[in-house]
Amino acid sequence: MTASSARTARSRTRSRGAADKSGTAGQLLHFARGFIKHPRMVGSIIPSSRQCIAKMLRPVDWAQTRVFVEYGPGVGTFTRPVLDRLAPDAKLIAIDTNPDFVAYLRREIADPRLHCVAGSAADVCTILAEHGHDHADYILSGLPFSTLPPGVGPQIAEQTAAALRPGGAFLVYQFSPKVHDFIAPHFRRIDRGFEPINIPPAQLFWAYRDSD
Ligand SMILES: C[S@@+](CC[C@H](N)C(=O)[O-])C[C@H]1O[C@@H](n2cnc3c(N)ncnc32)[C@H](O)[C@@H]1O
Repeated sequence: MTASSARTARSRTRSRGAADKSGTAGQLLHFARGFIKHPRMVGSIIPSSRQCIAKMLRPVDWAQTRVFVEYGPGVGTFTRPVLDRLAPDAKLIAIDTNPDFVAYLRREIADPRLHCVAGSAADVCTILAEHGHDHADYILSGLPFSTLPPGVGPQIAEQTAAALRPGGAFLVYQFSPKVHDFIAPHFRRIDRGFEPINIPPAQLFWAYRDSD
């Protein structure tokens, strides 16, 4: 992809988000429908706030990012801001178990850097390999860790540590601090934050894989 086509794609993503108010209402409706169908997998009826998104993404070194993975993109609340910041030659792999959300994202976001996968975050290493990568620079998670089926949370935490490059980071936003128990066995350095302007208020974690 050339720099100019990426710029066009980015501005298309941005202008759609800014201009299309009915798009925002559509996103909320689609998200709420997803919650009603699968409450334990979606975990929240309201998408993340702007404040939560900005705080979560602040430490990312975008210039060094070639492969960014998002778990549980839902209707793309984080996906669009990630694309707005991502370099023209980088890739965003968004993985969601809900095929309705994946179809929605494929339809709504026309950006060649975005690859939407219907699958589980537990298979992140396989999914990365299928896209031609050994590792990701960053992995972002909106998964409701504490309500996932038994065993899935620990498996995702382990696979995520294996999928990150040395020095890469796992970015997690959650309503419950319990997710710390899942990630602590795999990451020595875990920075924490809190965003009150979110429904409900969000716990933020930045877990860094050791550099070699
Ligand atoms: C709380 S929603 C996050 C929505 C959105 N990222 C936001 O910021 O508002 C959780 C999402 O995780 C997805 N999900 C649940 N289990 C998953 C898994 N094992 N792998 C990938 N996605 C999963 C759900 O389908 C849902 O879209």
